[in-house]
Amino acid sequence: MQAATESQQPIDALFDPASPEYLENPVPQFLALARRGRLVWYEPWQAWIMTRMPDIMECWRNEYLSSDFYDWEFAPPRPPEDKWSNFEKAMIGHSLLADHGHHRLVRRVVSPAFSRNVVDEIQRRIAPDVVKLIDELGDLESFDYIDKVANHIPFISISRMVGLPEKYWPEIKQVILTFTEAWNPTISDERREAARQDSNRAIEILQRVIAERRANPGEDDFLSVLLKIEAENESFGEWDIITLVLALIGAGADTTLVAQQWTLYSLLKHPEQIPAALESPEAFSNAFSEIMRWSISSKMGFARYAPADMEVLGQAVRKGQMVLMMPHLKDHDPEYYDQPERFDVKREFNPDVLFGYGPRFCIGAAMAKRQLYLTMVELFRRFPNLELDGEPEKDNSDHNAIVFRELRVRTNIDKS
Ligand code: HEM
Repeated sequence: MQAATESQQPIDALFDPASPEYLENPVPQFLALARRGRLVWYEPWQAWIMTRMPDIMECWRNEYLSSDFYDWEFAPPRPPEDKWSNFEKAMIGHSLLADHGHHRLVRRVVSPAFSRNVVDEIQRRIAPDVVKLIDELGDLESFDYIDKVANHIPFISISRMVGLPEKYWPEIKQVILTFTEAWNPTISDERREAARQDSNRAIEILQRVIAERRANPGEDDFLSVLLKIEAENESFGEWDIITLVLALIGAGADTTLVAQQWTLYSLLKHPEQIPAALESPEAFSNAFSEIMRWSISSKMGFARYAPADMEVLGQAVRKGQMVLMMPHLKDHDPEYYDQPERFDVKREFNPDVLFGYGPRFCIGAAMAKRQLYLTMVELFRRFPNLELDGEPEKDNSDHNAIVFRELRVRTNIDKS
């Protein structure tokens, strides 16, 4: 009966991430959308939504759809090569997204830069910044975690990881905040263009940093490792390095910013589970999958574009149409998870697809989890009696995720 009524309703009456109901609790909308079919046409975004896990995993694994933004029917025209700004050089000419063969080569040659040793080394470099940031809170009785801590961590981590000297930090900060907007299909052309200009400035800075690092090699950061890889691989050049660093900024800033907020919120809502979650980096790794499942902050999905007219899951998809994969629709589905409303940092995930799957599995997964672990351990070491200072208000203005307007916490420190 419920299914029969739903199937007659317009799709945006069932699913609307901009609605107050979604902000309050998106789960009924997730379930209704998934019941509508495996591939659902979503009129407001002019996009198909892929709703079921086996289909999403197959699409991730096989890459039968394109990841290249310029294959989208509404993307700005691909400019001729002699008109390329730095942004197009990085995003078209050496795109990690466009060419599967080159993508696989880049993933293969850069894998040493993400090895355990390098992650450990980068971790060592980020730790003092995190300690300093938290120490600077002094003996505050209450503070907004987003303003005082969360907003700074992705930026510090990416800058330290890449090896961007501190003198460039003020300039690069704005870019890190807006970069993913440069190809978000759901925002205005003006907002996308402004983000594109920010990216052009970032590329100039990167070129300067690379030139300086070439003149003074030897530092054991990501950029130095990539320059060594460049010297050893003919088909991997400076533009690949630039594209990769932009990809790290693009994929590593927004995600961790959102994750910081939801990690602290979930732990403070379930303080009895904090010791188990922070027992070790491995324990936290599992806890983090539960945190992100329980929090359900996603509003979008992972975009792909049809490279030709084709049939996908029984639907006729036209060349250039967008397909959004939404793995998070399963996150509170009782058919997928036992007692989905229950938060349990020891819940088992098999498979665990929080960081994707297949050839485009998140390159920064280890880094993301380490920086979150490090921040939480340090925060609770400094403030063992930390608690939420009231229920935080959610914010629907972020283009990609549900976040909080503020995340005020009380430190409950003993000043006697
Ligand atoms: C909470 C944090 C994060 C989550 C949940 C996350 C999740 C993901 C997912 C699901 C994908 C696959 C996207 C797709 O198929 O379209 C992905 C790709 C990627 N992620 Fe992450 N990520 C996180 C943090 C990071 C960080 C910190 C970095 C870098 C320092 C990073 C770098 C990347 C890159 C470069 C890709 C593209 C890989 C490729 O196309 O080969 N991510 N991430």
